[in-house]
Amino acid sequence: MMPMTKRQFLGSAGGLAATLLPFAAFERAFAQVAAVAPADLARDEAFWESIRRQYVVTRDFIQLENGYYSLASEPVLDAYVRHVRDVNAQSSFYMRTKQVDDKLAVRRALARMLGCPAEELIVTRNTTEALDTVISGFDWKPGDEAVMAEQDYGSMLDMFKLQARRHGMVNRIVSVPLQPASDDEIVALYEGAITPKTRLLMVCHMINITGQILPIGKIVAMAHRRGVQVMVDGSHTFAQLDFRIADLGGCDYYGSSLHKWLGAPLGSGILHVRRDRISGLWPIYGDASFADDDIRKLNHTGTHPAATDLAIHDAIAFHETIGSARKMARLRHLQRYWTGKVRGVERIVVNTPDAVERSCAIANVGIEGITPADLARTLLDKYRIFTVAIDGAGVRGVRVTPHVFTTSRELDALIAALRELAGHGARV
Ligand SMILES: Cc1ncc(COP(=O)(O)O)c(C=O)c1O
Repeated sequence: MMPMTKRQFLGSAGGLAATLLPFAAFERAFAQVAAVAPADLARDEAFWESIRRQYVVTRDFIQLENGYYSLASEPVLDAYVRHVRDVNAQSSFYMRTKQVDDKLAVRRALARMLGCPAEELIVTRNTTEALDTVISGFDWKPGDEAVMAEQDYGSMLDMFKLQARRHGMVNRIVSVPLQPASDDEIVALYEGAITPKTRLLMVCHMINITGQILPIGKIVAMAHRRGVQVMVDGSHTFAQLDFRIADLGGCDYYGSSLHKWLGAPLGSGILHVRRDRISGLWPIYGDASFADDDIRKLNHTGTHPAATDLAIHDAIAFHETIGSARKMARLRHLQRYWTGKVRGVERIVVNTPDAVERSCAIANVGIEGITPADLARTLLDKYRIFTVAIDGAGVRGVRVTPHVFTTSRELDALIAALRELAGHGARV
């Protein structure tokens, strides 16, 4: 079962041709702007309006909560349905004769994107499965320590708490400042929590509640100097930021979800484990057929939706047509477009750093005197704008996450709503 070709992309989108941009036209659109710098293209509203025609986005409200998961484009969705049908038609024949080779092919494709050998990467169902495999796979001894931040994702923090209960290890929790003065401040914060007993440091590549990007390379260098391994929560960064694993300073583990920024079907993720760290992890599920230093020992989750793996190829093809650098530039532009118009306005608090390199698509905004829950509810009920309330870990506001199909007009509606709610009239 081969991944979709460009021709099939076109064919498969045919039923919706009246509203959708055919894939060939989509490819041509990007070919025509090959010489345009990503930062310049990012400001070309007409161009990105045409890209929106690859997506069927709800008209019921303005979708600014694309951080939970982002909808697949129509060509990817179409291909996915076709893979579901093909696998279903062949059923156990597919599973017995093709599944293993296809799995290897998708691992190779994802490893190419991340810039690591396929032997260091497995396909998981999501970031949670990826990172919890590492946290629970560690050979914790009583008194061992781990370092993490209160702004990390709740499921991972809970998994560390479980290890503390089970093995008597100890978790040390730092709090990342909303507006850091420098990379050094953040590195020093993590370093201050390391003791001779620290074995693992978890750090978000991008903090999900604020969108803040952390200086991973510098944190990894510091931790490795202190003999501490680093697990990077890259839930939001694979296919949002333009980077390769080598840019993360040789981190030991990296996990991400593909249903977030790659636009792959729900229930797809990756785990990267540096080759020399594989044998040190205990698998969650038993599988005696792989050697201790074979990463596939961590991937035995039983019979699973194989069509999802196949559609990852289609999501990669779609993503690479846009191009990582162009996508990142557009996402960053959208975020800075709206935050730039409300930052500094009385009563409006942007909980995301202003420095360009410290954020991309995601940002968080609060209004003094309005609870995050009320703000999110009012934005939806009164202005038909969907965001998510964040109230914890020092962050009070709503998380706003545009995607490549978001238009500046939609962001203008957000800006006007925020200004009105803060008592400044609706002027943009
Ligand atoms: C920072 C972070 N880590 C991990 C996760 C878990 O991702 P998933 O639910 O896809 O496993 C999320 C989900 O939003 C997240 O924001």
